Amino acid sequence: MDLKTISLSLPHDRGYDIIIGEDALLSLPDFISSNFKDYRLVVITDNTVKRIFYDNLIAVLSTIDNNVLWLSFNAGEASKKISTIETLASQMVEAGLTRQTLVLALGGGVVGDIAGFLSSVYMRSVPFIQIPTTLLAMVDSSVGGKTGVDLPQGKNLIGAFYQPSTVIIDTLFLETLPVDQFQQGLAEAAKYAIGLDASLFDFFIDNVENIKNLEPDILMHLISSCCDNKAKVVSGDEHDRGMRHLLNLGHTVGHGLEASSGYKFGHGDCVSIGMCVAARISVMLNMISEKEEANCNDLLKRLGLPNSIPKGFSSDNIIKAMKHDKKRLADQHIMVLLNGRGKSCVIKDVDENLIIKAIEALS
Ligand SMILES: NC(=O)c1ccc[n+]([C@@H]2O[C@H](COP(=O)([O-])OP(=O)(O)OC[C@H]3O[C@@H](n4cnc5c(N)ncnc54)[C@H](O)[C@@H]3O)[C@@H](O)[C@H]2O)c1
Repeated sequence: MDLKTISLSLPHDRGYDIIIGEDALLSLPDFISSNFKDYRLVVITDNTVKRIFYDNLIAVLSTIDNNVLWLSFNAGEASKKISTIETLASQMVEAGLTRQTLVLALGGGVVGDIAGFLSSVYMRSVPFIQIPTTLLAMVDSSVGGKTGVDLPQGKNLIGAFYQPSTVIIDTLFLETLPVDQFQQGLAEAAKYAIGLDASLFDFFIDNVENIKNLEPDILMHLISSCCDNKAKVVSGDEHDRGMRHLLNLGHTVGHGLEASSGYKFGHGDCVSIGMCVAARISVMLNMISEKEEANCNDLLKRLGLPNSIPKGFSSDNIIKAMKHDKKRLADQHIMVLLNGRGKSCVIKDVDENLIIKAIEALS
């Protein structure tokens, strides 16, 4: 199958290509030879991804002469902390890595966020390539240059906007991804369909089973449509000051739910429920019809995602957690709401009582 290339344009020649398809990884050696011939390489990954894909990447890199160092950490969100950055940077210094180093971020969103942030600060910045291995990272986190780590006070509180040199999305990585992780990525993919792209919405409706069965051409279309949407939004608003907020559909309430569960619920599950709350509020404000709300809920349900608030969660807890969100402005609840099929807008100062009513309607 042919590879697909999406170009993300940015000022000052910082744009890059997103290369998508089965065996896209095979394009990596040529990209390195053409752009980073004399660089040393460091693969940053987690232990799970390293165990599964070490031989694979070693074989791909065997065609070029660059010296390769592998560094890994425990899989999971708990590694996304500043001490991991310090440990990795120290290991790189000890291995003699200078500014002439290219970082390869091989893994899911946790690896991409850590390796990207490390690249932005190591010796005042070195280039990096995103090689996402989860669906969430393929459709969302590997594109757009948001990098960072968590603090005990909350997620992603330290970080930088730092763009990769390219993103290589090899859909074959998904063959080993556990089904529940795949589902979490589907929620982020559905976000583009519900909030930004009516034709992707239709595609989803027609292909739910094909998507779940990992049909190659269907996955290719799904991932490239998401990346295309994300690339357009990021090109227009790299630093998240305007239209990039639209990518937060489902995330305001979603983050509240995720935080009040002590991060035990999957991010995608929480975003799915958050999108249902946003759809309910949109109906209450006469921005979409009940039929359009039902279409969103049905799609999420068919994808196997939740669309009601789990037992034991009160609107009080969720609202309290929402108030800790770093994206909140003063005392306002800023939310992305729906105003049509595949259409959304940012509404500032959503009435808290409406949010409570919507949460209660879904409880
Ligand atoms: N930077 C951004 O724009 C952005 C956007 C959305 C989310 N994020 C971040 O992404 C993170 C979540 O990413 P995630 O869901 O990919 O989680 P993750 O990186 O923790 O990966 C999930 C699990 O899947 C394993 N795994 C990865 N690829 C695999 C494969 N191909 N086969 C088998 N197992 C595999 C990992 O080892 C891990 O255990 C969060 O920290 C979130 O904040 C960042």
